[in-house]
This record gives sequence, C-alpha cells and structure tokens, in this order.
Amino acid sequence: MSKIIIEGQKELSGEINISGAKNSAVALLPASVLCKSKSVIYNVPEISDISYLIEIMEFLGCKIENKNGGLFIDTTELRNEPIPENLSVQMRASYYFMGALLARFGKVEISFPGGCNIGARPIDIHIKGFEKLGATVEIIKNRYIITAKKLKGTKIYFDFPSVGATINIMLAASGAEGTTIIENAAMEPEIVNVASFLINMGINVRGAGTKTIEIDGYKEPDNGVVDVFPDRIESGTYIIIGALLGKDLRIKGIIKEHIGALLMKLDEIGIKYQIDGDVLTISKCEDLKPVNIKTQVFPGFPTDLQQPITTLLTQIKGVSTIEETLYENRFKNTYDLNRMGAITNILTLNKLEVKGPRKLKGTKVITTDLRGGASLLIAGLIAEGVTEIEQCEYILRGYSNIIEKLSNVGAKIDFFE
Ligand code: UD1
Repeated sequence: MSKIIIEGQKELSGEINISGAKNSAVALLPASVLCKSKSVIYNVPEISDISYLIEIMEFLGCKIENKNGGLFIDTTELRNEPIPENLSVQMRASYYFMGALLARFGKVEISFPGGCNIGARPIDIHIKGFEKLGATVEIIKNRYIITAKKLKGTKIYFDFPSVGATINIMLAASGAEGTTIIENAAMEPEIVNVASFLINMGINVRGAGTKTIEIDGYKEPDNGVVDVFPDRIESGTYIIIGALLGKDLRIKGIIKEHIGALLMKLDEIGIKYQIDGDVLTISKCEDLKPVNIKTQVFPGFPTDLQQPITTLLTQIKGVSTIEETLYENRFKNTYDLNRMGAITNILTLNKLEVKGPRKLKGTKVITTDLRGGASLLIAGLIAEGVTEIEQCEYILRGYSNIIEKLSNVGAKIDFFE
C-alpha cells in the first residue's frame, strides 16, 4: 500500500507553481469529444483522475498525444462504446461523458460514477436536465442508458446550482437543436473554463459565470483550444500551508478573484500576505484570531477548502466553527486530526467546532478522501515528529506533483509505492 511520510516542522521558502485546475481539466477532456477531429488542452495537471479519463478516451478510440505542454486529442475515430464500470467508477467526472456523448451520438451507456465518499452525491439534476432536452434515461442496476433521437433546446431550471449538472447540460445542449437556457446555473470558474473551450470549438455560449447560461446547439464543433485555469483549490491549500510554515513562500499562478472568499477569511484570521500579479507571498503568522466558516457555492467559501483550513484552525487560540452546507459527510478527516492532538468536535451533522491552539504530534493516519487527505498532510507538515499517511492515492487524485512541489521548498516529505 502506498504511503506518504512527512517529518514535520520544516520552514518552507521558495516558489510553488500552481497546476491546472483538476475540476476544469476533468470536464475539458470529456468535452473534447464534441470536436469532430482535433482539439488541444494546455496546462493539464498530472493527477491520477486525468490518467483514468485518458484511459476512457483511448478506449473510445481517441488518439491522445502529450507534447509541447498540451494534450493533443484526435477524435476522428471516436466510437460510441458503452463505458465499462471498471473505468467509470475510478472518478466522479466520468459522468461528463454522459453529456458529451449524448450530444455527439444521441446515445450513451455508462455506469454510475465514482469519486470521494463525502455524502450521497446524487445526479438527479443532471438526469432531469437530459430529460428536459428530450432524452430518455434508463437505469438498469447502476448502468445509465441515455438516448435521444433528437435533443431539443429548452429552458431548464436547476433546483440547486450544481457544478457537475451545469457542465453536463452545457455539453448535452451543444448537440441540441436550438437554444438551451439554464437558470440557477453554477457560477464556479470551472464553468467559465469549459464555456471558453466550447466557444473556441464554435459553439455559441453566453452568460457562463452568471446564473443564466444560454447555449446554441451546433452541428460541427471542431478545433477547440483551451488553457486549463490555475487550480483555485490547490492555490488555497498552499496558501494555508504558507500561513503555517512559510518564510516568504511564493505561490505562483494565483487568480485572486477565484479565491476571494478564502482571502477574506484569512484577513479575518489576521494572516498577512502580499499579492503581486499572479504571485502571492506569505510567511508564518502569529496572533491569529478564531473564525466561523460556512461553505457555499461560488463565490462563497469552497467546500473543497473546508478540510484543509480545519488544520489551520487547530493552531488558532479560541474556538472556530465550520458549517458544511454542501455535503453530509465531510468531517471524516477530524478523526485522525484528533488522534494527532487536535480538539475538534462534530456538534451536529454539518457543524464542527475546532479548539486551539494545539500542538500536533506525528503518527500513522489514513486518508479517506481527497481534501481530507490534504488536511492530514498539512497536519503532518506542522506536527512534531513523523507522520505516515496511508491510502495517499486520494491525495494524488487531485494534487499535481505535490511531493516534488513541497520538497522543493524545504519540506521533508516522501512517497513510497
Ligand atoms: C464539484 C467538484 C467537487 C466540489 C463540488 C462543489 C468536480 C469533479 N467536483 O462536484 O470537487 O466539491 O463541485 O463545489 O468538479 N447534487 C444533487 N443532485 C445533483 C447534483 C448535485 O443533489 O444532480 C448535490 C450534491 O449531492 C451536493 C451538491 O449538490 O450536495 C453540490 O454538488 P455539485 O455542485 O454537483 O458538485 P459536483 O459537481 O459533484
């Protein structure tokens, strides 16, 4: 079993480069199958979710070459095969093939997507959207068979601004006749990144990044080119690490508008940083104040940074709280944080209190999900002694070259296969 071993309490200085956003890239790769022949995606992160998506795309007949900093994708020989379960369950984002293949072929067959076990995570909003566009959805055991003789543009109101559903319906609507209007759409930067790719391949998309998105169906999308935005969650994770251990640590590739809610909370806590262009410089801070955090959809505080920031809160004098409004089961990291010396209490299903400051001690811990893994990794970096993180595959799903990036700025961290 692979593990990460960290010897804690090392000061970190130098520069960390932020990679392309996982949640953009995992949508952009499936979106590329809308193209009739060629597309290029630059700045794709080196994470295991991308390797699995490439496996699915090669299974479907795509030719993919990694050169000159980009993934060059040729879909000329794309076949509409049912996507086998052993591939689709590897990650949640495999569900984007639903929208993309439905648009391209009018049919898709795929098993229920996988992903981190952080709550129920239904996909009913996606399914209702496909049906509104004129598709028929059959669920046999955990296989989805979605068919449409013809997709027709329509107005769709989402019960909740789901990131996945917004992107999936944008993809499906690209193959529909006429205009689709999505109301109460998600506004996350990943939506804008996907929209820019669709626009680049010839599809008319208006309003991405707002609550109302319009997509005109288009028959011949091709030659899409896109740069994956820098990862706002990876940025936030390294900023949190910098606030705990940095000595003029430079984090390069910041888009400050994408991390506004995090920066506001850091200001409230009393953390000092400077932003110059796309570089944020940060050093270890003292005299921090406790805060209350509530996770929300963008531009609110992102649920994906809730677990990483919990570790920072353990170092602050007083009682901080976290209210998790998106997922029912996203405090699993606190079990091992407490074993390392933290005091966190789950007050209700979605409310956590964190009492600090606490000295953390290295020990053996187990990762249960991607961002929970990041929270334990940060704990290992600040803890006295050695921390051994088991099941660290979760962390590698979402953090590109994390061992190398942290080692380069002075962390004592190793990966063992
Ligand atoms: C995406 C991100 C994930 C992030 C989340 C929220 C990817 C691959 N993953 O996940 O890292 O934590 O956004 O920012 O981009 N919901 C339903 N029905 C649906 C769809 C969603 O009830 O059909 C619920 C979910 O259970 C969850 C909430 O809506 O409680 C948010 O889900 P959604 O925005 O869809 O997140 P994902 O796209 O799964």
